[in-house]
Amino acid sequence: MNKKTVRDVDVHARRVLVRVDFNVPLDKATGAIADDTRIVAALPTISYLRAQGARVILCSHLGRPDGKVVEGLRLGSVGQRLSELLGVPVFKMDDCIGEAVTRAAFSLENGQVLLLENLRFHPEEEANDPAFARALASLAEVFVNDAFGTAHRAHASTEGVTHYLPSVAGFLMEKEIDYLGRAMENPARPFAAIIGGAKVSDKIKVLDNLVSKVNVLLIGGGMANTFLKAQGYEVGQSLVENDRLEVAVAIRSRAQERGIKLGLPVDVVVGDRFAAEAESKVVSAEAVPADWRILDIGPKTIELFRGMLAGCKTVVWNGPMGVFEFPRFAQGTRAVAQMLAASDAVTIIGGGDSAAAAESLGLADRMTHISTGGGASLEFLEGKVLPGVAALNGK
Ligand code: 3PG
Repeated sequence: MNKKTVRDVDVHARRVLVRVDFNVPLDKATGAIADDTRIVAALPTISYLRAQGARVILCSHLGRPDGKVVEGLRLGSVGQRLSELLGVPVFKMDDCIGEAVTRAAFSLENGQVLLLENLRFHPEEEANDPAFARALASLAEVFVNDAFGTAHRAHASTEGVTHYLPSVAGFLMEKEIDYLGRAMENPARPFAAIIGGAKVSDKIKVLDNLVSKVNVLLIGGGMANTFLKAQGYEVGQSLVENDRLEVAVAIRSRAQERGIKLGLPVDVVVGDRFAAEAESKVVSAEAVPADWRILDIGPKTIELFRGMLAGCKTVVWNGPMGVFEFPRFAQGTRAVAQMLAASDAVTIIGGGDSAAAAESLGLADRMTHISTGGGASLEFLEGKVLPGVAALNGK
């Protein structure tokens, strides 16, 4: 990575504002933290800063409160969990700017940790308001961005503050950019991408970018239906984007021109409705019954994909192969996760659903890298420059 990191600045006895992505999933019923992966992922930077004698001021958003205080989106439980993980107190504020916050920040001792309240309680955060960014920056002497998951947002706490403070990357940010960057710029080949998820329209730019980089492109999930329809197959009641058929045709012909091996479902698991308890059966991709809908890839497709991945040295995966949340239609996604876990390739999973699938199958620690960013890793795979990264000081 060509950006400065926490290693490149002197943080001893300095107030360091650290943007983390503590936007963790919360249990709908209890409001408790449902998955603390993002908190755990920020620990190396926080621990390093503490060990260097920095005075650590953490800031994050949680959810989308739209510029208002939403009680259920306060960062109290995040602070508690962080304190448990660090084994030291974490002082939690009720706001992210203002007199009380300034006083607390300036009273910190070396190694102490302060957590500011949800940044998005202020509309100025998402608006990237300069005065708000300056108020945040005024709390500290150095800015560290470790929030890869929010690096695709040009907000006050990711982009705005960098105009007022020396700004460097944290270890998580560095790791994410290194893994994803190497895969996109200089992958060990053959390089394969497995792209799934519901819609082609969500991933056109990813497919467009990948088709010029990979050697093998495997497409599953709801978006494969549009490819199947574009090649003249009937897909029954399946989710399909009729206005994207020409996109599918274009991706296919670009793959052909470039000599890329393109893998599409040859068989599928269909359901008689979109429901966990739907009746299901395996049919050929060419013979989807008119009243049924495609909800997963089939066993022959799994074997086809396995064969196409054999020998690949780098594999990037983004998006489930079927309706993973319904156990009856989870086999394709499970099989892909298992293939990657068993593979010797560098395996990189874009955040979001595919990361959740690997986690829930207990296979996460057998992947080379699982991104903590959903939208951010998607934009990275699209080849976009992430504003939160671009704004950091160069080496
Ligand atoms: C994420 O979960 O993708 C990040 O925390 C960014 O959240 P946002 O999509 O609400 O900006």
